[in-house]
Amino acid sequence: MDDIAVGPLDLARRVDEALAVQAVAFGLTAEEVAVRRHIVLRHLACPGARALGATTPDGRLVGFVYGMPNDRTHWWSTVVEPYLRTNGYDDWLDGSFVITELHVHPAFQNRRIGRTLITSITATAQERRSILSAIDKESPARALYRKLGYRDLARHVVFPSAPSPYAVMGAELPLQG
Ligand SMILES: CC(C)(COP(=O)(O)OP(=O)(O)OC[C@H]1O[C@@H](n2cnc3c(N)ncnc32)[C@H](O)[C@@H]1OP(=O)(O)O)[C@@H](O)C(=O)NCCC(=O)NCCS
Repeated sequence: MDDIAVGPLDLARRVDEALAVQAVAFGLTAEEVAVRRHIVLRHLACPGARALGATTPDGRLVGFVYGMPNDRTHWWSTVVEPYLRTNGYDDWLDGSFVITELHVHPAFQNRRIGRTLITSITATAQERRSILSAIDKESPARALYRKLGYRDLARHVVFPSAPSPYAVMGAELPLQG
């Protein structure tokens, strides 16, 4: 990733570019992009929310990550809480930095950009651990998270309106490797 710069991203200003990356990396319809746009802008108003971007030398955004300190009153946290509680892990909802989104454009994947984005954003977190959710199937994302020290805290987590179940994963900070 020699020619790719990773640094702070003004995600509110560049939300459309970021969602274009997410749409092709993760697969979002135009309707889903419109819904995500509202959600991202709302998230950015939360205390401690921040984003990093990966850009080419000519300024094209090819990857991004954003997250925030977990807040138990947020929708995501209220959905995962009963699953974590069942497994005895609901204390992970306190003192955790949540990775809300991480996406790298397919033409730029496998160049350690995703790894750099997530390790960089968590490196500046005040929290002692990090949590996230990922579709509950083997994928590059799940492989990356495991390599960084994330382990499964809950599986088969159902988010209303999401077609596939998710796994919730957590790691102590700083991340490994
Ligand atoms: C997950 C994602 C962000 C990773 O970004 P990336 O820049 O390609 O990842 P990296 O090059 O930093 O890879 C880091 C590790 O991930 C794993 N990985 C990446 N691509 C992989 C693949 N195709 N198959 C298996 N493992 C893979 C490797 O273990 C790699 O480890 P290594 O660096 O020791 O070889 C990217 O694949 C992506 O955007 N996927 C689609 C969207 C998505 O699923 N986002 C996550 C939502 S939870």
